[in-house]
Amino acid sequence: MFRALLTSRLQAAFTAAGIDLPEGFTPGVVIASDTRFGDYQSNAAMVLAKQLKTNPRALAEQIKAALQVEDLCEKITVDGPGFLNLTLSATALAERLSIIVKHAQVGVPQVEKPKTIVVDFSAPNIAKPMHVGHIRSTFIGDSLARVARFIGHKVITDNHVGDWGTQFGMIIHGWKTQLDQAKLKADPIHELVSVYKAVNAAAKADESVLEICKGELVKLQQGDAENLTIWKECVRLTLEQLEKVYGALDIKFDHYLGESFYNDALAPLVAEMLNQGIATISEGATVVFSDGSVKPESDPFLIRDKDEWKPAPCIIRKGDGGYLYATTDLATIDYRVKEWQADEIWYVVGAPQQLHFRQVFAAAQRRGITTKMTHIAFGSILGPDGKMFKTRSGETVGLLEVIDEAIERARAAADEKEQGLSDTEKDEIARIIGGGSVKYAELSQNRLTDYKFSWDKMLSLQGNTAPYLLNAYVRTRSIFRKLDGAVELTEDLAITEPAERALAMKLAQFAENAHDILDDHRPNLLANYLYELADTYHSFYEACHVLRSEGTARNTRLTLCEATGRVLKTGLGLLGIQTTERM
Ligand code: ARG
Repeated sequence: MFRALLTSRLQAAFTAAGIDLPEGFTPGVVIASDTRFGDYQSNAAMVLAKQLKTNPRALAEQIKAALQVEDLCEKITVDGPGFLNLTLSATALAERLSIIVKHAQVGVPQVEKPKTIVVDFSAPNIAKPMHVGHIRSTFIGDSLARVARFIGHKVITDNHVGDWGTQFGMIIHGWKTQLDQAKLKADPIHELVSVYKAVNAAAKADESVLEICKGELVKLQQGDAENLTIWKECVRLTLEQLEKVYGALDIKFDHYLGESFYNDALAPLVAEMLNQGIATISEGATVVFSDGSVKPESDPFLIRDKDEWKPAPCIIRKGDGGYLYATTDLATIDYRVKEWQADEIWYVVGAPQQLHFRQVFAAAQRRGITTKMTHIAFGSILGPDGKMFKTRSGETVGLLEVIDEAIERARAAADEKEQGLSDTEKDEIARIIGGGSVKYAELSQNRLTDYKFSWDKMLSLQGNTAPYLLNAYVRTRSIFRKLDGAVELTEDLAITEPAERALAMKLAQFAENAHDILDDHRPNLLANYLYELADTYHSFYEACHVLRSEGTARNTRLTLCEATGRVLKTGLGLLGIQTTERM
């Protein structure tokens, strides 16, 4: 990829020019923000000149003289206060283009040091509705896992479902007293959720119901056979239905190690933490306090109360002996480190759980765990009114309903544009566009900001949407259909027109973009790149005749179309979005 190549040449130029680099300074090259001066640029001379107190332009000239990039660039200039601007040569771009059409990974290099990365995402709770937070986690996590795998990491996806917890006291009581077997068969998640809700309401109104539920929970925890059977059945039914949802969304997990998987590890873990002196008993509970090793501002075990820092311990065992969410997460970390040799663990979970993860990571580190753990947080999805996204009846919106409605709407749109497609073809297209639109609406957003859910916007053929990108892909394919396969692309390439050059340049940058996404875990960087690529392609298509051109020009333009199709398909694939040949 050009940025990496140019960066290493630049570093070599410093050595060749006999300039010693001060510690902590690595000269770099970035994509130019203003392409009038070049494709790539470096401000290294300016930064260094400041440190060395010399003239930045003179230093830039010195580096320019030592820079060996004849095979890549046709022009190097020193501009402004000391920028080095680099313009790629048409031959270098053409070479890159032929790599993109031939290479299985469209020219994206693999990471030098592959890591084992565990991606923890989706993780809904059994018998509780899967809400919009889980939608975001599911799409973002799946995309990040795909990107990490694509660039060569070993990725393990794990769905840490909430299959154990206090909700089961209520569900078991509800199961025994008011379960509708027919409804359970038809839609298990829905029936379990409504039983849970009904019992929850009854328990609120009547203390004795609450006591019964608590009793059922204790029996479950003590291994009562009947309650264990009910619990297992709830988990089984829910997972079965969830797998259907994931299947429809083309999402796969390597593991489904839910919270219950760690039950036996909790007591020894707490004992060990007490032994190690990391946890202490406080008011009957077992807790982790601050160890004073970091400033209060960054200490997750302290909270600011007026002018004072007060303890905000992490509880790992309650006074009554019950374990908590944090305890399970600590045991989960042990497992992932020991069994999978995880170098990194990514938690794709909503922003409200930030404190939980800060505490859990800090406690794990105190236990000597060096694995890098990252909470990849995200904001909320808002309804068109700017408030939390709800269905018309006021319920939180479920993932399945959203996908179903998107597909239905896409199907209606396909029907409107009658164009000789069969019903089965239209169904398939609607499935791809519907699911893709919901995913893209999510993934094109900055994950940390809240965004408004809008059917019209996400399904529109105009703007930064899945239909727009899919349409661009379809356009690249329709050219080849018109040729009836009677074309063989050759390496006879010449990039001459500005629109050809702009497109080749954009295509080349995919190699960089695919790596940049993981710097801060932002699939929206990829979405934005693809949107710009589609735009650049449309401009190219308007400026340059493809089928009416001849010889080298025709071969070059067809190769640009082929490369655009390949990069769009690959890039959309990394967002978890399938493509269709027609729409
Ligand atoms: N089940 C949790 C929830 O719905 C999310 C679990 C996230 N993963 C984890 N290891 N804590 O909020």
